[in-house]
Amino acid sequence: MDNRPIGFFDSGVGGLTCIPALQKNLPNERVVFYGDTARTPYGSKSIDTIKKFSNQIADYLVSHNVKMIVIACNTISATCLDSLRRRHPDIPIIGVIEPIANRIAAEEKEEVRIGVIATKVTVASGAYSNIITSKNKKVKIFSKACPAFVPLIEEGIIDNEIMDLTIKYYLDDFIIDNNLEKIVLGCTHYPYLKKNFGRLYPDIKLLNPSEEVINEVERILREKDMLADENNSAMHLCYASDTSENFRNMIDAVFDEAQDVKIEFKKFQD
Ligand code: DGL
Repeated sequence: MDNRPIGFFDSGVGGLTCIPALQKNLPNERVVFYGDTARTPYGSKSIDTIKKFSNQIADYLVSHNVKMIVIACNTISATCLDSLRRRHPDIPIIGVIEPIANRIAAEEKEEVRIGVIATKVTVASGAYSNIITSKNKKVKIFSKACPAFVPLIEEGIIDNEIMDLTIKYYLDDFIIDNNLEKIVLGCTHYPYLKKNFGRLYPDIKLLNPSEEVINEVERILREKDMLADENNSAMHLCYASDTSENFRNMIDAVFDEAQDVKIEFKKFQD
């Protein structure tokens, strides 16, 4: 048993899409979340910059005595997972890409055409196709960067026509030309668009890394006997690097109303 919190971090509000599955499957767990709202988006930045920002945030989470870190961001998972594990070798650190990629590789038994939509950096890393196609040759992966989604989501422009048009701009031809059956939401911001996708492409099955990673969290905590117990009365703690009304709204949307969430601001020197 271990009632210390789990650290989660992302470039902004995206990583919060991991929280509903955590609350559902592991309701005793508490979270220290960091969203780098002042420096979002990461997905079009250089790998050196993403590493520098991620190191700052991971060190800060470690200073909160977290028992595990979830890199709740595909861009950081694709580029910094190994270096973060080397930097903090005593803490289990998991990214969002490996759990869903391993699951796809293990479960697909027939030829299947899967789209991965993500940031420019994640697409350029080839992280999804490297893991999946090295383990399962039946799966064909097609990737598409959708860099305008994150800034719109950070502004709370989501369930409306502007977002629908942006989605169609990126995905109409991508889906038809590649004859896709399934799409991986390869950026933790994109699960906020599930309703839009359901409306626009009702026949496409969506695969959500933000949910899958929580199964891995549970597996590791169980194996190490580090799950929290039901007497865990600590608060959730959410940090942002800049004030954002949307951050507050998203927190209200994902955390259980009955649990206390404290929001603080913390900025790092560039
Ligand atoms: N939510 C992040 C991801 O999963 C980062 C998006 C961004 O900052 O560009 O890739």
